[in-house]
Amino acid sequence: MNTSGLSPQEQAKKRAGYKAADYITNGMTVGLGTGSTVAFTMARLKERMTEEGLLIVGIPTSIQTTMRAGALGIPLIGLEQAEKIDITVDGADQIDPEMRLIKGRGAAHVRERIVADASTRLIIVADPSKICSHLTGPIPIEIIPFSFSHVIRRLNEMGGMVTVREGVKKDGPVISDNGNIILDYTPVSIPDPSALETAINMIPGVVSCGIFAEFTSKTTVIIGEESGPRIIG
Ligand code: 5RP
Repeated sequence: MNTSGLSPQEQAKKRAGYKAADYITNGMTVGLGTGSTVAFTMARLKERMTEEGLLIVGIPTSIQTTMRAGALGIPLIGLEQAEKIDITVDGADQIDPEMRLIKGRGAAHVRERIVADASTRLIIVADPSKICSHLTGPIPIEIIPFSFSHVIRRLNEMGGMVTVREGVKKDGPVISDNGNIILDYTPVSIPDPSALETAINMIPGVVSCGIFAEFTSKTTVIIGEESGPRIIG
């Protein structure tokens, strides 16, 4: 892929995304996350398919990724057709020192969580701005539309700030690939990400929040530093 015209942040995403493609070998079933960083991994996988005859099948986590894979010619299967997922490559919005994550800026975290959970290994690709000393939010929360006033009330009781995510034209809520609404919740603080993840996910009407604290033991993080990709875990 030609790097000319990429901003420094895009170049960092490319360094991370390309490095992740090195972990993929012939015959693997690969979970394909959503977003601009994993798009570089997909571009590199396409290059390897052409250059080396790499044979893989992908499982997409969003309509956006399905369309991107289709345009690149990466073969896809459904989750129900996969006996196992060897590796999932995905992006993140915040990564703490223990590799706990906040995901979901692309409103795809529900399917991303399912695919991550089904995977033997999770590789998170990101530019350096995603690294933080502790998770702060906002935390994306996908909710079923019927529950919207109730979930907002419960989150307000927990403290902090909650907004309904709107589209770029500000003419209505963002609707996820699953037909749901996305809230963005910024708590006062997140002393225990796992406890908060559980508390949010327990509110009736919540499909899933964007805290991913349970995959750390199978996670590798690749940060696209200027000096080269930094691998954690
Ligand atoms: C989508 C996600 C993305 O992986 C996350 O927002 C990172 O995106 P990008 O690589 O574009 O910065 O969780 O739901």
